[in-house]
Order: sequence, then C-alpha cells, then structure tokens
Amino acid sequence: MNQVAATAARQQADVPFTIRQVGPTFGAEVRGMPIHGDVVPELLGEFISALHRYRVLIVPGLELDPADLVAFSRRFGPLEIHSRFENTLPAHREVFCVGNVERDGMKASFNRGVEQWHADSSYRRTPSDASLFYAEIVPGEGGDTLFADATSAWRTLEPAMRRRVEGLYAVHSLETLRQWGARHNPERAAGVDHQPEAFPPVRQPLVRSHPATGAKSLYVCPAVISHIEGIGAEESAMLIETLIMHVTQARFVYCHRWRKGDLVIWDNRAVLHTASLFDHTRYQRLMYRTTVAGGAPALAD
Ligand code: OGA
Ligand code: MN
Repeated sequence: MNQVAATAARQQADVPFTIRQVGPTFGAEVRGMPIHGDVVPELLGEFISALHRYRVLIVPGLELDPADLVAFSRRFGPLEIHSRFENTLPAHREVFCVGNVERDGMKASFNRGVEQWHADSSYRRTPSDASLFYAEIVPGEGGDTLFADATSAWRTLEPAMRRRVEGLYAVHSLETLRQWGARHNPERAAGVDHQPEAFPPVRQPLVRSHPATGAKSLYVCPAVISHIEGIGAEESAMLIETLIMHVTQARFVYCHRWRKGDLVIWDNRAVLHTASLFDHTRYQRLMYRTTVAGGAPALAD
C-alpha cells in the first residue's frame, strides 16, 4: 500500500459507521458504511463484528446495481449460485431474484409469502453463512421480511427442552421443500426448478454453534425438514412446531418494512427469517439476493 492509500485507509477506519439497534434483542441499522468501491480491511472487520453481534444489519438509502451488490457481497466470501437457476440474473448468476417481476430474461422467484421460517440453503451440506438482500422495487404495502432471533431463543429455552434437543439432528431436504412449495403454489410447474440429485438430504443439528462467536442457536426450518433422526414422525412434527413457536414469539421478532435502496444482511447461522404476503395483483416487488457460501458445516463433527 502506498502512503496516500495508507492514509486514506486510516482515515476510513477512523470514521466508523454508526450503529443503532432496531429489533428487540438483535438487528441494527448502520449508517456511514462505504458499500461502493474499496473498503479497508479494518472497516470490513468492524462491519463483520457488528454482523456477528447484531445478527441482522440494515444499510438504508443505497443505490446499488447488481454488479455493486455482487462486488460488496464477495467481501464476505465466495457466493453461492442458487439451485433455481432460472430465477438468477443472466448477467450475474450470483444474484437470485425474488418477487413478481419478469424482465430482460429474468423471472423473479415468486411464492405466496406463506410464513415459512428458515435459514438460507440449509439443504446444502455446508449451509450459507450470510445473505444480502437489496430492495429494488418495493410494494406499496406488505412484502415485509420478518427475522427471528434464534440465538436469544436458544438462551431462553427451558433447561429440560435444551437437554431434549441438544444433540438431535434434523434431515433437511430439497425434496421436502419442493413438496411444501407444490402444496402452497400449485400453479408452479412441479420439479422444474430444483435439482434434488445435486442436493441429497443432509443432516443438520437442531442446535448449532456459531463458528465465530460460539453462540448457540436453534436451527429449525419447518418446510425443509423431513424428520428428526431417531424419533417418530408425529413426535418430530410436534417438536418442530414447539420450537418454532418459541423462536417466533414477538419478543424475538424484528419485522423489516422495506424502502427502496435498503440493503439488509443477515447471519444465517444465528437467525431465521420469512417472507410475508403482499398483494401481487396490485404491486410489484423485486429483491436481489446474494448468498455467501458457508465456511464450515453447521455441525462441528
Ligand atoms: C429469501 C427470502 C424473504 C422475502 O430470498 O431468502 O427468504 O421477504 N426472502 O422475500
Ligand atoms: Mn430466505
């Protein structure tokens, strides 16, 4: 680094962004973080520490194009290409499009917004570390994204329940998700948008540890879990329901009302999230998602 660059780097690191918590136990709005162009490692390190601490970071008021989003996202690690290839941008396959817009060879992934709590790509052996979601077109109402603090949920779980679930494994399967999707979106052609052979079922712990912070969290994705290993189907379904009811209590939920230009980054290793309904006959919605590939399997075996 030459001297001018070094001075610029120090100055950037000296002007830290501001952080304001917006959710009940987690979630923070960040202002002043440079998203375009170079970011010095110290500042990126601070931002990543904030992500680990607050689990969801909101950076409002941006004007990003897909290339900007991909460039910023890559700072967090290699990006996944989504298994539903037809919902990715032709010019930037790392960008998965969500909403009800179809244009320029891109068709956004539309689902009914039925509540479906999950963390992204839990059906991969090594699930995603973090996702970045950028609001390109927001509906006049609805289409909020809800986040649940799976880390605080673990901390507050009754000791008897903790003993029961720690050490259990759930099987996460793209085929289970496809069946769930077919029940809720019967008009979507079955089977065209998944690659079950590329993603065979995987076991994930019900309680996972965050590799950077060590914090434990509940890892429950009801639409993706086919069953919990070692217990019967009925008991399995009841346990998942009990856990999801606990995690998604209002005291652990932050609802993000989108404004155009918001970028939200969430830590898939610490929170769950879900879409919500919007009137897709009246409004357009288009969101760009990039997905940071996982650095380590969820289980520490
Ligand atoms: C996603 C997702 C939520 C939303 O794309 O991973 O869960 O509000 N989206 O669209
Ligand atoms: Mn998601």
